Amino acid sequence: MSQTGGVEQVRHPIGVFDSGVGGLSVLKALRAELPHEDFVYVADSGFAPYGERSGCFVQDRARLITQYLLDQQPAIKALVIACNTATAAAVQLLRQEHPGFPIIGVEPALKPAIAASRTRRIGVMATRVTLESDKFNALKLSLSEQATFICQPCDGLADAIERDDASQIVALCTQYTRDMGQFGIHEGQIDTLVLGCTHYPFASHHLQRLVGPQVCLIDNGEPVARQTRRVLPALTDYRGEGCLQLFSTGNPQILTDAAQRWLGGTPHAQTMSIAG
Ligand code: DGL
Repeated sequence: MSQTGGVEQVRHPIGVFDSGVGGLSVLKALRAELPHEDFVYVADSGFAPYGERSGCFVQDRARLITQYLLDQQPAIKALVIACNTATAAAVQLLRQEHPGFPIIGVEPALKPAIAASRTRRIGVMATRVTLESDKFNALKLSLSEQATFICQPCDGLADAIERDDASQIVALCTQYTRDMGQFGIHEGQIDTLVLGCTHYPFASHHLQRLVGPQVCLIDNGEPVARQTRRVLPALTDYRGEGCLQLFSTGNPQILTDAAQRWLGGTPHAQTMSIAG
């Protein structure tokens, strides 16, 4: 509860979910943009990775998690799908099923990449489900006259980041950046790399080393946070630091450790069960 002019106001949190720990990269930007808001984060780690499953499977998980967050007391007042894969598979469906409810998704940042690129050769790392989705292909087609996109499905990379398996992360980043072609700032080279999965910013130091310091890495945590501020219901005059709850459908220790490592000062994650 918070006080507004003597009237007690229920604080409704913002719900955020991902297949696992990757959405913490978006949560970090959200907490910086909206420091007084409360957040509930769900890592669907018991069902991760999403990126190599079917679109239907991801839709089912997204629906169940959304309903769970809406049924909480107090209910969430907005939902951020901090997952490119779940956004590609399910954002349209969720918006149809919850008309008028603010749902913010993430998608590979192709437009900001065009703005940043001089060679107009842009690498896109994402999951298979994202790259094969109609949503992503429509976006790519709409921009195809402005740049060439070299799209790389990164099987196993989100999973390696989820498990914090450093040697596998380095091996996969090395393989995938090599498969994409030559990076650099000269004509014909890829000068901009889109991190089209929210797990990948946590491997950005390895990726930057592999592609060279002049290549621009782009993710969309900050734009998503700004968009969330824009669409939030306008009643918030909260003061003080907002609180955070972390839930995992898998091993909560993995989420606790990842949140400590990447956000710092975060609470222990709790186990939750969301079964179909
Ligand atoms: N973090 C997710 C994304 O942005 C999905 C990773 C996965 O579960 O494969 O696409």
